[in-house]
Formats: sequence, C-alpha cells, structure tokens
Amino acid sequence: MKARSLISVADLTPEELRGLFALTARVKSEPERYRSRLSGKSLALIFQKSSTRTRVSFEAGMFQLGGQGLFLSGRDLQLGRGETISDTAQVLSRYVDGIMARTFAHQDVVDLAEYASIPVINGLTDDLHPCQALADFFTLKEVFGDLMGRKLAYVGDGNNVVHSLMIMAPMVGMDIAVATPQGYEPDPVYVEKARAGAVEAGTKIEITGDPTAAVSGASAVYTDVWASMGQEDEAEQRLKAFAGFMVDADLMSQALPEAVFLHCLPCHRGEEVSAEVADGSQSRIFDEAENRMHVQKALLLWLMGGESL
Ligand code: CP
Ligand code: NVA
Repeated sequence: MKARSLISVADLTPEELRGLFALTARVKSEPERYRSRLSGKSLALIFQKSSTRTRVSFEAGMFQLGGQGLFLSGRDLQLGRGETISDTAQVLSRYVDGIMARTFAHQDVVDLAEYASIPVINGLTDDLHPCQALADFFTLKEVFGDLMGRKLAYVGDGNNVVHSLMIMAPMVGMDIAVATPQGYEPDPVYVEKARAGAVEAGTKIEITGDPTAAVSGASAVYTDVWASMGQEDEAEQRLKAFAGFMVDADLMSQALPEAVFLHCLPCHRGEEVSAEVADGSQSRIFDEAENRMHVQKALLLWLMGGESL
C-alpha cells in the first residue's frame, strides 16, 4: 500500500483535518508525552530554496520526537547534477522513513511522492505551501475558537501561500477574500479548486483588486512578500505594481476590531506590511511561526509514527 503524503491541504479529509488539529493541540500542550514516538526514525529534508522556519521547525521537531532530520541541500544532492527525482525517491525510501521537500516546480514534489514508498511532505513549492496553511488556521483557531462564518482577507501577491489558504478556508468554514493588483491574481487552477470546495462547504471566495473591500469585515488580515523565491529578477517591477497594497494601520482599521494580522514570514517591513502592523498588538506572526513546529510534529506522528487522527 502506498504511504500517505501531504502535497496539498486538499489531501486531508475534513475529519483528518479536525484530528490533526486536535493532535497538534495535544502535542503543543503535552510535548513530553510524544518525546520518543519517532525514536530511530529519520526524515530527509530536501531544500532547493532557502528556509529558516521550515528547516528549523522540522529538524527541531524530529529531534523532540526522538528522531532525526537530515538536511539535504539541492546543491549538494546528486539531484543537482541530474540524478532523476524517481531514482532519488526510491533510494531515499531505502534509508529513511519520510521526505520533506521544498522545490521550485510543484511537479517535483508530486513525482517524489509518486516514486517514494514513504510519506512525502510538501515544504513549499512554487504552487503551494500546505504546512504554512495548517499552522495559520491552527493559529486562528487558538485565537477565535470556531472559525465557521469568519472571513480571512489576503492582500498581496497571488502566490503559493494564498493558494493553500484559499483551498483550506472552506475546509474550516471560513470565507476568504483575496485582493491583488491586476496581473498578479492567484492561479485560476487553484481558484477553481478553492471555489469547488467553497460551494460544497457553503462558504464564499472573492477575488478583487480592492484591498479595502477584501479587508472589510475580516477577522484576520494576511499578507506575504511581493516577490517570492525564484522571482528576484521581478522584485523592482513588483514594487511598483503593488503600490497601494501595503497592509498598514489604516487598512487594518477596516477589518473587525478583534482582527489579527498574519504573515508566513519572512516579511519586508515598509513593503507588504508596515512595521507598525507587523510589530503591533494585532500581530500574531510569531505565534504563527511557532505553530509551524507543533502542527508539523502532529503531521509527522500521523504519517511516520502510526498515530491515528
Ligand atoms: N514561512 C516559511 O516557510 O518560512 P521559511 O522560508 O523560513 O521556511
Ligand atoms: N511566497 C513566499 C513564501 C515564503 C515562505 C515564497 O515562496 O518565497
């Protein structure tokens, strides 16, 4: 039987998602209980792009569960010299118990999961960032409890992060409004997937060019960098295109009074978010970063440690 993987949040059923969040809460409040659950197990961590949070939260998370993470830079692996994804997946499956991969092409992570006999976790591709969305909605649940009927506003680039947020919002009963400059909308393929989920869940998805309209009535305001990894050459042109899309105190004041500010990080203060908002009383950015580790530990316990959800 093929091992379960996490390539997109859509791989989880609503019941599994509820179970994963419940396990995350237990892992966070009683870390001692899970101390040696992954004893003797190894997780390969393939990085074709930079990382602070993903690398450290997976490595430290594996250590806290009694196992080990193996950092494998794309530059050092034979993958960087032309070895195929398929051979890499099959070889790693003989040595380790799981693979986490951060790649450019989304298909590379899909192919790793196809050829590996062990679980594969998507640690960010050009298309999706499922571990981030899991941590983000877990953070919102900690703040608000039930999320049903609440609205998440995303203001910025239609990128990997918002794709995962859009797919996941209906899974927790949330509406989502996405405001981007023209030409920087989310990929229609993922908008369609998200719309299908929203129809089924009875939630709303709005794509707009107006940040104020998106933020109005929102319980959470989210943004991300204007130029993602791999888009460095476009950074200057994007600075111009995104004028008026900074999340500042004025924009935050259009959301509900209890609204929180989220950002996957790293952030650029003075570009997509003002320093006042990023470091202000509504910001939950560091809780969000911390929760990456708790939710990923729960994921590892489920995928590699036989924990049921
Ligand atoms: N949010 C996130 O994935 O951060 P890193 O790029 O530092 O891993
Ligand atoms: N959209 C960003 C997220 C970084 C965590 C990027 O892909 O660079």
